[in-house]
Amino acid sequence: MKTVPDAIREFAPAKINLFLHVGDKRADGYHALESLVVFAGIGDALTFVPSDDISLSIDGPFSSVLSSDPDNLVTKAARALAAQSGVVTGARITLTKNLPVASGIGGGSADAAAALRGLARLWDLTASQEQLRKLGETLGSDIPVCVDCATAWMEGRGEIVAPLSDIPAAPMVLVNPGVGVPTGKVFAALTERHGVGHGRPPTMASVGDLIAYLNTTANDLEAPARATAPAIGEVLDALAVQPGVLLTRMSGSGATCFALFESQAAAAAAAAVLRRARPSWWVADTEMISRTVRG
Ligand code: C5P
Repeated sequence: MKTVPDAIREFAPAKINLFLHVGDKRADGYHALESLVVFAGIGDALTFVPSDDISLSIDGPFSSVLSSDPDNLVTKAARALAAQSGVVTGARITLTKNLPVASGIGGGSADAAAALRGLARLWDLTASQEQLRKLGETLGSDIPVCVDCATAWMEGRGEIVAPLSDIPAAPMVLVNPGVGVPTGKVFAALTERHGVGHGRPPTMASVGDLIAYLNTTANDLEAPARATAPAIGEVLDALAVQPGVLLTRMSGSGATCFALFESQAAAAAAAAVLRRARPSWWVADTEMISRTVRG
């Protein structure tokens, strides 16, 4: 009897920019960045089984807004890895899309990075994480940091990623108002900004230290994103008045915003209130994770 190999599974966690400072536009058209990136306990899920060709099917709550055509970042990542590694076989990939699309929490980038990790395992490649990050960089600025899914300091256009030893984790609520915000459009509308050179965070012993540090920072893309999608302001206002909230901010180029809370109970209560008040919003209560979770 032919044995069917078990599917390889990868978890593609949401990426959160705890802060994001933008510098000058570079000669290549990208902006210099500086960001402290963490990952959440919620994300998309991918499975990979051997096949002759590369194919992708998408299910899950946000599957309807995505197409599984060759332009999908997961398919592009699979083809790029196969071409680079000389792999002639394929993979049947399933993506369960739990995260809102084009929403500043790296969904597409995390999926592409998970595809690189999962296919490297499925095809038994010797590619190092560094090689996967380099390949990811050719597909999108946020993919390198998503290859490791670990707390990181990010520079360059996003491709320079340095792991940071764990920073204090806080309970977190993510809210998306259901408006897709194209990254390029937000960068194009940028005016005021902090520039780069803020410096890496000091050693932080408590969530209080983390909040004090984050209060010296901002997300420079928040103002241009709010101008594009005013619902972002409504989300931030709604999060800011929840009991036990420590910090509210937008992630990436939006429109997803996050709030850090003093306890998991406060985060859960805030999420319940927001779900009731705004049923059309996507609301997730989760936590910061420090390393890749295999799902
Ligand atoms: O690299 P990625 O495809 O994710 O970037 C999408 C768009 O966001 C780019 O075309 C560019 O307009 C903008 N961007 C930027 N500076 C960065 C990252 C992205 O201007 N560091």
